[in-house]
Amino acid sequence: MCGIIGYIGKKNVVPILIEGLKKLEYRGYDSAGIAVVDDGPILRRRAKGKISVLEDVLKQDEVKGNYGIGHTRWATHGRPSEENAHPHQDCTGDIVIVHNGIIEKYMDLKTQLSFEGHKFQTETDTEVIAHLIEKYFQENLEEAVRQAMEHLEGEFAVAVISSRDRDKIVLVKQGPPVIVGLGENEYFISSDVNPLLLYTKDVVFLNDGEMAVIEREGVTYSDFSGKLLKKKIDHINWNPLMIEKSGFKHFMLKEIFEQPRVIRDTLKGRISMDKGKVLLGEIGLPPERIKSIRRVVILACGTSFNASLVGKYFIEEIAGIPVDVEYASEYRYRNFILDKNSLVVAVSQSGETADTLAALRALKVKKPLTLAVCNVESSSIARETAGLLMTHAGPEIGVAATKTFSAQMTALMLLALYLGQINESMDKDTGLSYIKELQRIPTKIESILSQTEGLEKLAKKFISASHFLYLGRWANYPIALEGALKLKEISYIHAEGYPSGEMKHGPIALIDDNMPTMAIAPKDRIYEKIMSNISEIKARSGYVIAVAYEDDKEIEAKVDAVIRIPAILPLLSPFLTTVPLQLFAYYIAAARGADVDQPRNLAKSVTVE
Ligand code: F6R
Repeated sequence: MCGIIGYIGKKNVVPILIEGLKKLEYRGYDSAGIAVVDDGPILRRRAKGKISVLEDVLKQDEVKGNYGIGHTRWATHGRPSEENAHPHQDCTGDIVIVHNGIIEKYMDLKTQLSFEGHKFQTETDTEVIAHLIEKYFQENLEEAVRQAMEHLEGEFAVAVISSRDRDKIVLVKQGPPVIVGLGENEYFISSDVNPLLLYTKDVVFLNDGEMAVIEREGVTYSDFSGKLLKKKIDHINWNPLMIEKSGFKHFMLKEIFEQPRVIRDTLKGRISMDKGKVLLGEIGLPPERIKSIRRVVILACGTSFNASLVGKYFIEEIAGIPVDVEYASEYRYRNFILDKNSLVVAVSQSGETADTLAALRALKVKKPLTLAVCNVESSSIARETAGLLMTHAGPEIGVAATKTFSAQMTALMLLALYLGQINESMDKDTGLSYIKELQRIPTKIESILSQTEGLEKLAKKFISASHFLYLGRWANYPIALEGALKLKEISYIHAEGYPSGEMKHGPIALIDDNMPTMAIAPKDRIYEKIMSNISEIKARSGYVIAVAYEDDKEIEAKVDAVIRIPAILPLLSPFLTTVPLQLFAYYIAAARGADVDQPRNLAKSVTVE
């Protein structure tokens, strides 16, 4: 949520900041700005809207320099406007900052600072930081920042420059992620690794309570008390091509098409066909602790929550362990009924979602075993759990999660098999049949992706729809939720995901010829029940699209349109049913001219509560 970027070196900083901001734009895009330093005062350029608007501003009103900072915003305090866009400054314009996060009780600080004579120009919480630093500034920027930190509560990653203590960027972290990139005689700062891949793969992740002073000669790390720290250099193995569109119109479409690769990568090295086993020793949890697990609680938000719900069906079915899937934002305020035989799994693509992280931190008092299912190895969630099961989806740029959803389902299926193996609740033949089917999934998805014209044509019929109902049962109930979420977030069409069996308890009242229904109907153990639910809708003039197996001939006569998927072991059908629903949402949104990769009001990494 909000992206920050910075550079110090010999090159012109402006294109580096702008390109970096474009890579971070998925984190927030309601306004953007940069501040650069040449020989004179700090020069700021800001604009309401996307980075492209800022580029236009820079064409009219050029700046240059060889160090500076930039920001792309997702508004929390103060509406999106040029005035509220970062970078923000103190009274004099000598101290300029960018900030990701939220400053708690900032109004108290603002009142106090105003009383002391500071003049505020924005509605943001961020501006208090600039004035606080101004208050403590004598000669040395990092000293002033350090003193200011003592008065700040909340979550913040802040980068600061000053024309009174030049040629340095001071960076602090207390919450949101921030990284230092180490180039050759040049240094970068960024909210994530994506903008750095073009320049360097050597990075340092700051921890909470840490500070970096980045100068032309090198970087000094310390904690907030000033104690010097020696930091580990991490090497990133993502490559720059991973964050390009590679000929696709949108990142979302590219990422949907990447799913076969993502599933293969997430399975790679974790399955032994000889032994008929899943190999997950890498997660780092002792098998004897795993054997004692009697309950699993999965914490997640949004799409990760929906993948976790699929995981619940996998684990309960295969390992026979009860699973509760909880919205992290709710669970964090609950009475945690957990013990040492509970496994808490935090599922998060980014590993930085504030609610998931906060819930995880809060429940640790109960000392459960903790595991992260995560796509970013260096993220806070991945680092704060005892075990880590990586999803190997690669960077996901489209704000709407697609390939990471499939990667999370894959990881959770592997976890289910691993738990079942260790607690011996699953016989070898059953395990082997799931393992074999898992390996066939990428090819089956490829076959769906090889014939999308019909789906695109069907989707385009609904570009003027105002509502949509998504129905699924059993393991496909979460897919109904996810299908509806995808449609809502990228096309802005209101959609509800519902368990089909619940229809008659209320939502059926909504059915008329303006409420189309997407019914997920693989031939599983409750197929007949789903067919009854479909009949109930048809009897009330509802339009029904069914997602059904290729060999299901009887469904044709019972619905208005059918989307075909290859047959698969029913428990694993969510891997296939999800793909046409992602594409359906994509084609509708693209045909409506919506900003598919950066839907309004959203940000990919939600690092505020
Ligand atoms: C929806 C979407 C969000 C995220 C949610 C959790 O397409 O992307 O709902 O799934 O914000 O994010 P992570 O998985 O990073 O914790």
